[in-house]
Amino acid sequence: MAPAPSFRGHQWTYNPVRGSCLLLLLVMSNLLLCQGNSCPSCCPDVSDIPLDLLRELFLNATLLSQSILKHSRIMLNEFDEKYAQGKLYYLTATKSCHTNSLHTTEDMDKAEKIDNEDLSKWILMLLYSWHRPLNHLVTDMRGMIEVSDTILSNAKENVKKVEELQAFIERQFCQIIIPVMRKMLENNIYWSGLPSLLSSDEDVRHSAFYSLFHCLHRDTLEIDIYTKILARRMINT
Ligand SMILES: *[C@@H]1O[C@H](CO)[C@@H](O)[C@H](O)[C@H]1NC(C)=O
Repeated sequence: MAPAPSFRGHQWTYNPVRGSCLLLLLVMSNLLLCQGNSCPSCCPDVSDIPLDLLRELFLNATLLSQSILKHSRIMLNEFDEKYAQGKLYYLTATKSCHTNSLHTTEDMDKAEKIDNEDLSKWILMLLYSWHRPLNHLVTDMRGMIEVSDTILSNAKENVKKVEELQAFIERQFCQIIIPVMRKMLENNIYWSGLPSLLSSDEDVRHSAFYSLFHCLHRDTLEIDIYTKILARRMINT
C-alpha cells in the first residue's frame, strides 16, 4: 500500500503520488461552501417529492446499478477468456481490492439490516472508489492491447453511469457526502493499481488487470444489491 495522506490539525500533508487527493479536497471545500445555505438545491426533503416522481427516480437508479453491474461482468468475462485461462489470478484477486477496508457485505440478509443512510453511504463510497480506476481505463490505458474494444466501450458506459448514479445518490442524500469523503480519507480508500497495470512484466500486468475487473465486478454487485434494497424501501413508503 502506498503511504496515505494524513490530516493533522488544519494542515494537509500532501503526498504528490496521491494526486487525486487534491481533487477530493477541492470537492470537499466546494461542498463545505454549499453547506452554508448558499446552495438551496442541496438536500431536497424527500417528503417534498411527489411519490410518483420518487418512484421513477429510484427505479431509474436501480436500472443504472443493474447496468453498471452488467458492464462490469462483460469486462471481467472478456479479460478472463482472453488472458486468465489456466492462470491462478483469481486466487489473489480479491485480497488486493482497494475497497477491502470498507467492510461491505454481499450477503443479502445482512444488507437488509443496514439502515437507509448507511446503505446510501456504502453505495456512494463504492462509487467514489471506482471513479478514478475507471477513468484511467478509458484514458491512459485505452491504447493497451489488454483493453479491447469491448472492454473500452463497457468501461466508457460505466464511467458515465457511475457518475449518473453518484449524482443521484448525492442529490437524494446530500448530508452524507462529507462524512463519506472523510471516511474514505481516514481509511485510505485509494486506488494505486496503475503502476502494475502498466508493468512491462506481462504476468504482473495480467494479474493486475484481472484483479481490477474482479474487484470492480464484486463491488458493482454490492452497489446493485444496496441500490435495489434502498429503492424498494423508498418506493414502498
Ligand atoms: C428515468 O429514466 C428515463 C430513461 O432514461 C428518463 O427518460 C426519465 O426522465 C428518468 N426519470 C427521472 C425522474 O429522472
